[in-house]
Amino acid sequence: MPGEERYLVTSALPYVNNRPHLGHLVGCILPGDIYTRYLKLRGKKAIYICGTDEHGTTSELAAREAGVSVQEWCDRLHEEHKRDYEWFNIDFARFGRTSSRTNHEMTQHIFLRLWENGYIIEKETEQLYCEHCGIFLPDRYVVGECPHCGSETHAGQCEGCGKLLEPTELLEPKCVVCGSKPVIKKTKHLYLDLPKFKDRLKTWIEGNRHWKPNVRNWALSLIPDLRPRPITRDLKWGVKVPLKGYEDKVFYVWFDAPIGYISITKEWAEEAGENWEDWWKNPNTKLVHFIGKDNIPFHTVIFPSTLMGTEEGFVLPYNVPAMEFLNYEGTKFSKSKKVGVFLKDARELPYPPDYWRLALIWMAPETGDTDFTWEGFAQAINELADTYGNLVNRVLVLARKFFDLRVPEPGEYNEKDLELINFIKSSPELVGRELDVPRFREALKKAMEVAREANAYLNAEEPWKRENESRRGTVIYLALNAVKSASILLSPFIPGITREALDRLGIEGVSWEDAGKIDLEPGRKLGDPVILVKKVSDEEVQNWRERFGGNKERESVEGVRMVNEISFEEFMKLDIRVAKVLKAEDVKGAKKLIRLELDVGELGKRQILAGLKDWYKPEELEGKLIVILANLKPKKMMGMESQGMLLAAEKDGNVVILVPEKPIEPGAKVH
Ligand code: MF3
Ligand code: ZN
Repeated sequence: MPGEERYLVTSALPYVNNRPHLGHLVGCILPGDIYTRYLKLRGKKAIYICGTDEHGTTSELAAREAGVSVQEWCDRLHEEHKRDYEWFNIDFARFGRTSSRTNHEMTQHIFLRLWENGYIIEKETEQLYCEHCGIFLPDRYVVGECPHCGSETHAGQCEGCGKLLEPTELLEPKCVVCGSKPVIKKTKHLYLDLPKFKDRLKTWIEGNRHWKPNVRNWALSLIPDLRPRPITRDLKWGVKVPLKGYEDKVFYVWFDAPIGYISITKEWAEEAGENWEDWWKNPNTKLVHFIGKDNIPFHTVIFPSTLMGTEEGFVLPYNVPAMEFLNYEGTKFSKSKKVGVFLKDARELPYPPDYWRLALIWMAPETGDTDFTWEGFAQAINELADTYGNLVNRVLVLARKFFDLRVPEPGEYNEKDLELINFIKSSPELVGRELDVPRFREALKKAMEVAREANAYLNAEEPWKRENESRRGTVIYLALNAVKSASILLSPFIPGITREALDRLGIEGVSWEDAGKIDLEPGRKLGDPVILVKKVSDEEVQNWRERFGGNKERESVEGVRMVNEISFEEFMKLDIRVAKVLKAEDVKGAKKLIRLELDVGELGKRQILAGLKDWYKPEELEGKLIVILANLKPKKMMGMESQGMLLAAEKDGNVVILVPEKPIEPGAKVH
């Protein structure tokens, strides 16, 4: 130590409450991979670290819903994440887990250092406690009514209005496990004394002028109001607190998760014959955290404080490139369960991983939220096909036709040739400057520019024409060098496709600088021409949009559920019935709701709340036969239970209810 400069690149560790979807990839995992590949091409020592974030109430509850143990759930989801990222060619040094033994030990060690150094405070607080289950109810363990909007929600963040909610603020709180009413009980917790780090944080963050402005500004804005932050929870699943009196508690998931970066590096180092401290405690290490913007406070303030507080010489992040959010066709890519384009679905479509890598960067939310659209997907691929794909194919076709698939001997260069040569020579610097920031979309555009220039050059020089015979060797020689250059510059983005092209040029190892050289040896054998990039048709776009949803109007708080084809069996799970409206009345205090009392025949009487006030008066509905989804999970609104959902059609803000075409008995099944 310190030794040469090195890069320790991390991607936010995905939670295992959700199956992996495109949002996970684009937010940080793919950018981190592209960045690390680029650094390695530049000859830098670099590793890429990631893994699953497995503790906390989200995993516990997901496991409960699936009816398996947390351990089993995490094992399963960890494998799923790992396999998916492998398919997308994400080149992790190691993809670990925060539930590993290494991470438990590392977390406890780091905690003890903070404790010894006086950065931990003990405080007594009041929390909800379920006497029936004998557990405290943190975060998602308690459901109740939001005091602001009346929706039924879990604590943490209201599912209806988005306001942050402490468990104790919920009206009519209930334990999610058993449904009983919790009591308030005192409990002791440990807090990280963040105010002690204020000055050091401020100086350090202010000095990081190379950070994205929104990251730096957000970080700085947090400093004046820093308060001690609880780092323990009354839960079982997690890292045990190695302190007397805390035997029944574990660390809060956000305490041990970033420490996972260190533990996973340690596990990698043990296998690779390296020393993890040469990476984490080395002033020559550049630590780069790729994250989504919601993680900014944790990576710029809280985790750095944890690291400083150990007084063990840990490096602080050199850069924290944060991405904004990727929406789906105009609506929210919801992180909540079962919503999103899953990687599993993407893998089953007839496209190679590089298409996704390219399209996701094309639409990446680098400077603001963006939309994933199927048009954008097609546009990205078709652009690549027109520029790079086209160049590779046509140059090889020309080389086959005129030079028996060998690199021709160039003649003397004229002005046009020199222009292209200069362009090629300057390109690694131009693209590299963007990737250093990193600015991926701009880098991608500039890398494609090389292919575009070379195509324009071929179009102008027309080496296939008889009258240009004397220029033919030179022109094709330079175009082949352009193929090499573009392949190298595009390789961090689309490693698979560019590898095929480089193979055809007979090139094995490459470096970034090679992209600026005109150095193919004349006489070298080439591979057969190939169509490396097939275009995506309008029909395909149409098709995927129908299959995965893409209707801009179906926005809801939860985000659109991307509908896949469903089976007949799945359809049959819907219990749709005709019902008769016995009584209808406005719900007082609610803007839209009408309360309907229904006769549903064999299913008996029930009430439904429907948001119809803008379109119907209660008296218009009384006596009508309507159609309802009868087996929707009951939902509480404004203190009343809605036992099903009325079916209505909606277009451009107009709503009409569905009614049977002829009278039929209430309770009749619809299918
Ligand atoms: N699991 C968190 C999320 O998805 C990210 C954790 S990043 C780490 O928002 F630093 F804690 F690992
Ligand atoms: Zn309970």
